[in-house]
Amino acid sequence: MRAAVVTSYDEPPHYRDVPEPRAGGEHDLVVDVLAAGLHPRVRMQADGSHYTSAREHLPLVPGIDGVGRAPGGDLWYFLGGAPGSMAERAVIDTRRGIALPETADPVAVAATLNCAIASWLALRRRITFARGSTVMVVGATGGTGRMAVRVAHHLGAGRVIAVGRDAARLAAIPGATGTALLGDPAGLTRAGRDVDVVLDFLWGPPAVATMAALLAGRDPGAGPLTWINLGEMAGAEAAVPAGLLRSSRLRLIGSGQGSLTGAETAAEVPAVAALIADGTFAVPASPVPLRDVERTWTRPADSRSRIVFLPGA
Ligand SMILES: NC(=O)c1ccc[n+]([C@@H]2O[C@H](COP(=O)([O-])OP(=O)(O)OC[C@H]3O[C@@H](n4cnc5c(N)ncnc54)[C@H](OP(=O)(O)O)[C@@H]3O)[C@@H](O)[C@H]2O)c1
Repeated sequence: MRAAVVTSYDEPPHYRDVPEPRAGGEHDLVVDVLAAGLHPRVRMQADGSHYTSAREHLPLVPGIDGVGRAPGGDLWYFLGGAPGSMAERAVIDTRRGIALPETADPVAVAATLNCAIASWLALRRRITFARGSTVMVVGATGGTGRMAVRVAHHLGAGRVIAVGRDAARLAAIPGATGTALLGDPAGLTRAGRDVDVVLDFLWGPPAVATMAALLAGRDPGAGPLTWINLGEMAGAEAAVPAGLLRSSRLRLIGSGQGSLTGAETAAEVPAVAALIADGTFAVPASPVPLRDVERTWTRPADSRSRIVFLPGA
């Protein structure tokens, strides 16, 4: 069968022949992959920069989730999949997936589920999220950030403030009750005075500058500020001053593979899939045949829509 294959972390994946996957375990199912999203996490898998990359070996077939059709005709969303989801067929573990309604749009699910479940898991599994809380989304103009605004409202946030580097894109985010620009400390302080939880997709220097601006404007008697890191679009490292931690009630945690178990993630998939099926959550998608993987990969990334590869097209 044909698949995207990473042979070097310095090159985009190539469209190549790979061995057919074989089901082995009692929960295994071989599916024809219909759609697989090109998420930032998959780009990191393919260039070796993700924190799980030390456990991977080349060559590898990229892709961390997808939608496939089982031999009986059922449609499945799956996490993982072997050899990877960017292949014509994959073995899936049915405990890490869900059978979708026949009416589900494979491209919409492949584009949206990874984006929506990120903040869903952070708020439902990494903290005890109180209804009415104020949430700030840092990196709100991307697929996962825009979805975080929706998810926070859906889970009961009182206010959701969107933060990013592009004023026009920020203004167009549905559901944001306030906005602030990165690099505008006074604006961040004003907008973030009563923030309870930050969902941070950027890390790097913008995250530290935003933390400092929020804490500068905080009432000393205010409750804790819980900062949840989910991504690193602006840098893998951030120099957080020790004084910022000691002088405030800042709580710094992360949410992702490792801080969440596979079982916790799988348990939340059905609820998120149902909200995609009924149109509550949607990320704009750009479908592309998988055979075009090499030239599509090198196209500049655009945070306004999610590339979805179609192995069967
Ligand atoms: N932990 C989890 O569970 C989980 C799940 C899914 C995704 N993620 C992570 O979340 C992050 C965002 O994913 P996404 O799907 O939203 O990506 P995306 O759709 O490609 O959007 C990227 C976002 O990052 C912003 N950005 C990129 N470089 C920046 C910089 N140097 N300074 C400031 N802003 C910058 C973009 O701003 P513009 O719009 O202005 O370009 C946009 O808001 C990634 O690191 C991804 O790996 C984590």
